[in-house]
Amino acid sequence: MTRKLRIGVLISGRGSNFKALLDATQQPDFPAEIVCVISNKGQAGGLEYARAAGIPAIVISHTGFASREAFDITVDDQLRRHQVDIVCLAGFMRVLSAEFINRWPDRILNIHPSLLPAFRGLHTHEKTLEAGCKIAGCTVHIVRPALDEGPILAQAAVPVLEGDSPGTLAARILEQEHRIYPEAVRLIAEGRVEIDGMVARIRDSAPTAQPLVNPAPRG
Ligand code: GAR
Repeated sequence: MTRKLRIGVLISGRGSNFKALLDATQQPDFPAEIVCVISNKGQAGGLEYARAAGIPAIVISHTGFASREAFDITVDDQLRRHQVDIVCLAGFMRVLSAEFINRWPDRILNIHPSLLPAFRGLHTHEKTLEAGCKIAGCTVHIVRPALDEGPILAQAAVPVLEGDSPGTLAARILEQEHRIYPEAVRLIAEGRVEIDGMVARIRDSAPTAQPLVNPAPRG
């Protein structure tokens, strides 16, 4: 097999998306491996998954830095030290500087719990419910300097149900996040993604034939 793509994962908390990536990369035929995990929070639950798997779990607390740029340079340094090819943001709740992003052109991926370009930023599930959406979802995209913007690699849609709270909606979306993030990484690792401005063209993809309609038509 050819060399596996080396992933550095950035987290801030629970790390369930990191865990989904970890599970995928532990399959022998998966074309990428996780070589380090960096958290800006020492208490991030996700660090435990890394430790249990014997993957370097690095804490770089942002509070110890005078500027965003100084923090980003230290993160960058660690990623390069581990010879990372691509960076996966997995619930990493810090805005990265444009300088950092430009040092990793089209090599940073992010997962966001909405169907971008709708509902960028924080409190996505609350905003989705307030807007009365009937369909919600999640997006994996390539990171560009503008917040939650960049070529879309994969999306999953779920219904918004009557009586949903931000928590129940988040749980339904999270399940899909765990499916599409490893798949998006696979597409990159297999060299099937071509970036054309803001559009990611995916070679040999299997399009979904089934539309999601909510509420389901009776007739
Ligand atoms: C996920 O829902 C992810 O999409 C979201 O934070 C959660 C992290 O969960 N990310 C963002 O909102 C980034 N803008 P996790 O730590 O269990 O992966």
